[in-house]
Amino acid sequence: MTKESTYQSLIPQIQSLVSDETDLIANMANIVAALHTTFHFWWTGFYLVKGDELVLGPFQGPIACTRIPFGKGVCGTAWQQNKTLIVPNVHEFPGHIACSSASKSEIVVPIRHNGEVIAVLDIDSADYNTFDRIDQTYLEQIKLTN
Ligand code: SME
Repeated sequence: MTKESTYQSLIPQIQSLVSDETDLIANMANIVAALHTTFHFWWTGFYLVKGDELVLGPFQGPIACTRIPFGKGVCGTAWQQNKTLIVPNVHEFPGHIACSSASKSEIVVPIRHNGEVIAVLDIDSADYNTFDRIDQTYLEQIKLTN
C-alpha cells in the first residue's frame, strides 16, 4: 500500500471514530493512536493552546516538552503563522525545540475551531525528509470537533 492509499482508508476511519464523541481529549487520544500505530512514527501528539503557550496533550512516543511558547519551535511557529509546517531536517530549522535527539524531521498541522487555532498536531520522524504534501493534504482533513 502506498502512503496515499493508507491515508485514504485511515482518514474516514478517524472521522467516524470521533464523529460520535464530543470530548476533545478523548478524540485527540484516539487520533494519535490511529496515526501512530498505522505509520509507526517516532512521536505523534497534540499540543493544546492554553493562553500564550502550547501545553502537551495526548501523544504516543517518548516523553516530550510540556510547554511551548507562542512563536517558538516548529509547533509555536505553526500556531503563530496559522499554517502547516513541513521540516525536512529539524537541525536546519532556527529555534527548533529538540524534545528528543532522535527526531530528524517533523510536520506540524494547526487544528482550528471557528477559525481560531486551538491545538497543533505534531508528528516527528527519526528519519530525514519523511513528510511531504501527501501528509499535509490528509492530516489537514482531520477534524476534532463536530
Ligand atoms: N520539535 C517541536 C517540539 C515538540 S516535540 O518534537 C514533541 C518544536 O520544535 O516545536
